[in-house]
Amino acid sequence: MKRIAFYDTKPYDKIWFDKLNTRYEIEYYEGKLRENTAQLAAGFDAAVAFVNDVVDSGTIDKLCELGVQVLALRCAGFNNVDVKAAYGKLHILRVPAYSPYAVAEHAMALLLTLNRKIHKAYGRTREFNFSLTGLTGFDLHGKTVGVIGTGRIGRVFVDICRGFGMRVLAHDPYPAADIPAEYTDIDTLFHSSDIIALHCPLTEQTHHMLDRQAFRKMKKGVVIINTSRGALIDSAELLEALNDETVSGAGLDVYEEEYDIFYEDFSSVIVRDDVLSLLISRPNVILTSHQGFLTREALENIARTTLQNLDDFFAGAPLANEVCYLCMQGSEAAACRRANEKGRCF
Ligand code: NAI
Repeated sequence: MKRIAFYDTKPYDKIWFDKLNTRYEIEYYEGKLRENTAQLAAGFDAAVAFVNDVVDSGTIDKLCELGVQVLALRCAGFNNVDVKAAYGKLHILRVPAYSPYAVAEHAMALLLTLNRKIHKAYGRTREFNFSLTGLTGFDLHGKTVGVIGTGRIGRVFVDICRGFGMRVLAHDPYPAADIPAEYTDIDTLFHSSDIIALHCPLTEQTHHMLDRQAFRKMKKGVVIINTSRGALIDSAELLEALNDETVSGAGLDVYEEEYDIFYEDFSSVIVRDDVLSLLISRPNVILTSHQGFLTREALENIARTTLQNLDDFFAGAPLANEVCYLCMQGSEAAACRRANEKGRCF
């Protein structure tokens, strides 16, 4: 039986993996995968990791040295993996889609909560405070939302916004003809949107795409929603924009320094991250701990696809969900897979 070292395990992960797994011996570790925890995979055939595991070149070399052949990510994003360092050494598999609805619906939940101040209203009524002062929101109907990235999640978010009667602007280097949105250049989207939602991946090009310069181009009072990756936004400059009221609210499911913080309970210790502390202290910021994916349907799909990816790998079958640095370079992707008749990146 093949053995899997499963990192960053939470109780909700185990439910579906235990239910669907019949073929592997899985060792669940609570700790995250890092170079200094890779040793836990000694004697294992595969490692399974999540969004905040750090799969840099040191971790990759260590896993390979221990005989691990494949790393299966139980997530879509792979910005935490040095895919160039992995090429030719360690196959990297992922779950490209498990429920775009889960994340898009969470993005809308953040927007609705922020706008209608449900977080404040909940606190008030629990204290028998039935005052409405300070709870005024605005109609979403008729407002303009700018959606950056119209892939799997972005297109669902566009549909949800259309359902609310909003005008939808979109920006994506690969516009889709069947999406009911007006594609524009990024500056027009910045100038014209009442709400801006990020649904693009984190890459060198998108790192800090919302920074001081970008905030200066936005409508006064814009609301920012980010369920993609924290480093799409310069958090310190977001604070400035919240302070000068350029941004009237931010709904964040991700934070650029989340790696050692999110998914853990720090309620009885001091978290030494001043930017995070200031963001959380703002009444017009809602921060959730990277939970956009957290629905029953998504968890089941994540477990099913991760196990299927591993089955394909160990059966020598083509790897539909493999990622590599060549695959990330547009047309090179096809060349990369076509060059190999096994349907694998190397
Ligand atoms: P996708 O790959 O289907 O779509 C991404 C879209 O972004 C593509 O259409 C792409 O062309 C576009 N894009 C790339 N560079 C861009 C740029 N510079 N400007 C505008 N658009 C650009 O990805 P999917 O499944 O829609 O996921 C989007 C992101 O959501 C992921 O990269 C991941 O970071 C995040 N995510 C967050 C989760 C959470 O729990 N909060 C769960 C799953 C994904």
